[in-house]
This record gives sequence, structure tokens and C-alpha cells, in this order.
Amino acid sequence: MKKVFVTGCCGYIGSHTCVELLEAGYQIVGLDNFSNSKREVLNKIKQITNKDIIFYEGNMLDKSLLDKIFEENEIVMVIDFAAYKSVGDSVKKPIEYYMNNVSSVLTLLQTMKEHNVKSLIFSSSATVYGNPETVPITEQTKTGGTTNPYGTSKLYVEEILKDLYHSDNSWNICIFRYFNPVGAHQSGLIGEEPNGIPANLMPFIAKVANKELECLNVFGDDYNTKDGTGVRDYIHIVDLAKAHVCGVKKLVKEQSGLFIYNLGTGSGYSVLEMIKAFERVNGVKVPYKVVERRPGDIDECYADCSLAEKELNWKATMNIEDMCKDAYHFIKNNSITNK
Ligand code: UFG
Repeated sequence: MKKVFVTGCCGYIGSHTCVELLEAGYQIVGLDNFSNSKREVLNKIKQITNKDIIFYEGNMLDKSLLDKIFEENEIVMVIDFAAYKSVGDSVKKPIEYYMNNVSSVLTLLQTMKEHNVKSLIFSSSATVYGNPETVPITEQTKTGGTTNPYGTSKLYVEEILKDLYHSDNSWNICIFRYFNPVGAHQSGLIGEEPNGIPANLMPFIAKVANKELECLNVFGDDYNTKDGTGVRDYIHIVDLAKAHVCGVKKLVKEQSGLFIYNLGTGSGYSVLEMIKAFERVNGVKVPYKVVERRPGDIDECYADCSLAEKELNWKATMNIEDMCKDAYHFIKNNSITNK
């Protein structure tokens, strides 16, 4: 039976994608080293789907492990989620970030080539656009000008994939540029579980609402936006996961090519709008105070997603209320199980 190999299968985007793939009838081989995820996610995926994945624990830099996985399974496609993703950490640990986010992809690509598997979906990020001159951002918008090693690592891998495709256009590669994934699976079983204090807005808001943290810091209210706070394109994680099912179908259909898609909703919301929506939907208070800007933040970032709609037949269906509701549901559920 042909299988999809998912690296980073227990992480935030990986776990939700596994659920959607399993529900769509695909067989999965998964890899994770739990560097920023939990082993129990495997049981949660099983609980939601009633299906198993073939799981290997380990690091993508481990070439002998990758060889073993490709030898033991009939893999036809790879979805690569395995990466570090903290902007702040990446500034402090560039070697670790480039090793884990770039070298590991080279190891994966070498293994794929040796086993003649040439279909890949790669997790990239809107961060590759740096500080965009205009919004909405299309796939034609200039990339570059990244401001931290995390962003640069994604940009480098994109360049590596372009070079690879140009050297051998029997490769079949899809690059997804995610905007701001938020929310959680409706079951409340899987969601975003960052180690320590969250760096991102939505998990921080949810923890403040749940009284695990005291107060949200709003990083600046003097941006050139509708209310002065930063504007982003938040996308429900389940919508994002479903895009990967469409990506798999696209690559099966095309057989070869290099495809790049923005994945967002196409709408921008400010930090204050997110706070208000969260309070309204969940009937809670989110105390906040405005503080200094966070270095590296930009005014506005939202996507033009019409290419994904046209070519993948995919469109985000969930709104900001769904995102806030599901994010809170997960945090509440999770803090109960942690007690
Ligand atoms: N923000 C706050 N307070 C917080 C956290 C965030 O005010 O405690 C604000 C930020 O200033 C920004 C907005 O909320 O205006 C969103 O911030 P996030 O940290 O949630 O997301 P970013 O847009 O900064 O970063 C995200 C991903 C990165 C990715 C980037 C671009 O976390 O991995 O989108 O794709 F690189």
C-alpha cells in the first residue's frame, strides 16, 4: 500500500494534517523526535480518526533512519513539517536552526533521490516575503529581506528546492507559504502546545483568558494599520491541514512541477480585533496593555490566496470566531488534562 511520509507528524500543523489525511483515506508513515511536541499526540490522532500511523521516533538528520524508513515502506510522497519555528530562539541559536531546518532537508532530499521518490510538499512561511511593499501578498511578491535565522532558513530551503527542480524537472514539489495558523481541532484533543510561555498572539490570548497568564502585552499601537496594532492573516489550522490533502491530490495529478501557494484567508485582522473577537465569542475578558513594539514586526501581512483556490480547489472556510472558539476549547481541555 502506497504511503505518505510525514515528518514532524506530532507537531502543530503536522498532527492536524495527519488527521485530515487519515480521514481522507491515506496511509501515513510518521517521523518525530518530540523536540517541540508530545508523544501522546499519537494517541490523540488515533482517538480522533480511529486509525493508526506507522510511527518512527528520531531526527531527520539521521540518514540511516531515513534509509530504513524508505526501505521498510512504499513511500510515494513526503510532507516535510519537521523544523524549529521560534523567531526569537533562532536569533540566539542560528547554528541549531540552520542545521535542523536546512541541513535536515538536504538529508531528506538526498534520501528521496536515492529511493527515487520525488514528490514533496514543503512547509514554508509568509516570513519569506520579509517586509512586503504592498498587501495583499501574491506568490509573485518579491521574497527576501528576512530578519531572523528562522525566516532565512525557510527562504534558503525554497531556493534549494528551486535549484533542485531546475536540475531535474522530474521532481514534483509544492511549497506552501503559511500565514498565521491558529485554533485547534474541534475535538479539543490536539492544538498548539508551545513549550514555555507562548511567543505567538493566539495561544497567549487563550492562556490569559484561562487565567494561566495575567495580561497580554500588545506590541505597539503606532503601526500604519487600521487601529495602530499589527495586522495579520490568521487561518484556522484545520483549513490549513485540509490544504495539504489538496496538495497531495495536486502532486498525484501533475506528476512533476514546482508549485508555490500562499495559504491564508485573504483577510487581515489587527491585534485589538483579535482580542475583541476572542472576548465576544468565548464570553471572557482578556486584560491587555500596550507596550513597546517587538523588534522585527511589520505593519501588515495578508495573503492573496486566489492561486490556491484556482489550482488546488482549496479555500479557507472557517472564520475568526471559529478560530477563537477552538483555540479556547483546546486550552481549557488541555489545562484540565494537565491537572
Ligand atoms: N503580538 C502581540 N503580543 C503578543 C504576541 C504577538 O501584540 O504577545 C502581535 C504581534 O506584534 C503581531 C501579531 O500579534 O502584530 C501576530 O504575532 P505572532 O507572533 O502571533 O505572529 P507573527 O506574524 O509575528 O509570526 C508568525 C509566525 C512566524 C512566521 C510569521 C510570518 O509565528 O513563524 O508569522 O509568517 F514567520
